Amino acid sequence: MTPEHWDAFFQIHSDLPREGPGEDADVAWATQVAKVGQSARIADLGCGPGGDIAALRRAAAEGSVWACDTHEPFVQQAQARYDQDPDVTLAVADMSAPFGMFDFIWCAGAAYFLGISAALSTWRQHLSPGGVIAFSEPCYFTDTPSEAARTFWDGEGVPLSTEAGIRDQIARAGYQTLAIRNLSDQAWENYYTPLEARISDLRSEASPLLVEIIKDTRNEMDAWRACKDETGYVLCVVRPK
Ligand SMILES: C[S@@+](CC[C@H](N)C(=O)[O-])C[C@H]1O[C@@H](n2cnc3c(N)ncnc32)[C@H](O)[C@@H]1O
Repeated sequence: MTPEHWDAFFQIHSDLPREGPGEDADVAWATQVAKVGQSARIADLGCGPGGDIAALRRAAAEGSVWACDTHEPFVQQAQARYDQDPDVTLAVADMSAPFGMFDFIWCAGAAYFLGISAALSTWRQHLSPGGVIAFSEPCYFTDTPSEAARTFWDGEGVPLSTEAGIRDQIARAGYQTLAIRNLSDQAWENYYTPLEARISDLRSEASPLLVEIIKDTRNEMDAWRACKDETGYVLCVVRPK
């Protein structure tokens, strides 16, 4: 994308509660599977505007959350949301080099930027003994995805796999899968409903380029609704073998 495209993209993608599918119930489930303790040190990698931080704090009320993203405006938005919480630290940083050691690493919709193998191998060095990682990953829910399901991820640069393929990548990275489940439709609506409202707000003042990107965004939402039984995200909870 050109710099002008990115500007228009981030006109849409600003001031949203989250930047990918997810819900508090995912955090509650994953931290329960991982048996996250009340004083756990947690990392939220690729945290976006910090949509999961409140649920992560609830999972370890006497612990801490260190969260990072490379997109500074998201980090600023998250910082403003958790300014009053001394146990939340925000950083503009690359998730391939998190600062510190953690009992639980959470990564919603961002591990695929590194790839499962690279992400799990890098993050192993930042896991305390007994530590657990939870990440959500694009996935086909069928061995025979339709053309619509396959084109849904076009342009994302994600090598899509089925759950079996993801389990295999996890095992090859030297990890054990503790549990996997699909993200719910509600998780997607938590992302798309505010995005739809944002698009409606911007429509009246939109430049031709913004109109084009609004159209692409709307097409993406329609495409997901048409093929959501065939593809989406799985949430994986894993620990080193
Ligand atoms: C799909 S969004 C998900 C954001 C957030 N986890 C959520 O669920 O709302 C992916 C995020 O990963 C961030 N990201 C991509 N590559 C990154 C990297 N190498 N280090 C840190 N953040 C990264 C992007 O800026 C973006 O905010």
